[in-house]
Amino acid sequence: MSTPRWMPRTAALLALALATGACTEDKPGGPDTPDGGETCAPANRNDEIRLGLAPACEGCHLAGNKPFFASLTAFENGLVYDERYVKRGDPENSLLVQMLEATAPGSYRQMPLGQRYDELVASGHVSLTIDQVKAWIRELPPPPGRLEVADPEAFTVRRLSAEELVVSLMDQLGLTLEDFVSTSDPNWRNKAYVVNGGKLFVWPGDWSPGISNEYVSDSRSVERYDALGGGNSLVYRKKDVGFGPSAAQTLVQMSQAWCARAVDKKSNTAVLRYVTLADTTAKNPDAVQKNLRALYLRMLGQPPSDAEAKQLFEQVYLPLEAQSTRLGWIGVCASLIRHPLWLTY
Ligand code: HEC
Repeated sequence: MSTPRWMPRTAALLALALATGACTEDKPGGPDTPDGGETCAPANRNDEIRLGLAPACEGCHLAGNKPFFASLTAFENGLVYDERYVKRGDPENSLLVQMLEATAPGSYRQMPLGQRYDELVASGHVSLTIDQVKAWIRELPPPPGRLEVADPEAFTVRRLSAEELVVSLMDQLGLTLEDFVSTSDPNWRNKAYVVNGGKLFVWPGDWSPGISNEYVSDSRSVERYDALGGGNSLVYRKKDVGFGPSAAQTLVQMSQAWCARAVDKKSNTAVLRYVTLADTTAKNPDAVQKNLRALYLRMLGQPPSDAEAKQLFEQVYLPLEAQSTRLGWIGVCASLIRHPLWLTY
């Protein structure tokens, strides 16, 4: 699972998203100015609306799990031709309009979050009015045929799910279940197992071993999993695909604790591949650099640029190495887990 997802595609994608964003900015010579073969002129009426809304929306919807503004295809597939948001010919009953008017039922009353759309129009941040959006929905043509065929270019980025976070992190760090739970009983997989204290175990409440909460001696291992957004079929809890503060906090703790376990685990080369804890920068600078780059590649699936390697070395590794090489490597490992490339798919 760790290999295919760390593709350079993420990078291409982010670049694409940025390039798309650039098209909404004023360019000298007007919006039709060709830039490197690409033109920023709207492709059609839907695109005009996309570009019109973009200044108010793309700050939060270029990437993530609702990347409506990443491209025209994303806009049409994800928003325009999704009946939940836009009802063709019926602006008043379209959630999109209700959101712009701050009257939407449900969890999100208004978009953009925290700011009234009509105020953005009044202050000149956006020029597309709600009335224009309504007129567009009234006349909205049916979805173009091409939306029905899979478009290989229409990829999106999303965060890793809780199970992907747990499983791939164990794998990447060279850890197994046995590193977290007490296995002294030969039959431990078949009975209530004991989570060894202080190991920051994170495990779904409905996975084996530990088919129900009762089987996990440390209920926090399940709570942490919930905080990462994991679902639990036993208590009818749906997955949460957002990434809020509790998920972030759990991931921070988990990254530190699990990296420490990986560094301390005997003959585990996941983190310490080209160095031992006896190798300091003063003694063996080449090994330290080599290991740093190898770890970056292992965790993020692409080699670091020289600038990134330098930054990681100078800002994370070196200050911690002054205390101990062990802390240095735990710090580097944990910081890579919090990297956007690690967190997204
Ligand atoms: C400050 C950040 C922010 C801005 C700006 C913003 N959104 Fe959102 N939007 C969110 C968040 C957060 C969610 C809900 C989480 C998620 O699913 O990604 C969301 C969800 C949505 C949804 C899905 C709601 C649902 O119930 O399924 C739509 C549609 C949407 N936004 C449209 C817009 C539009 C249109 C704009 C611009 C007018 C906009 N957003 C601007 C943050 C923002």
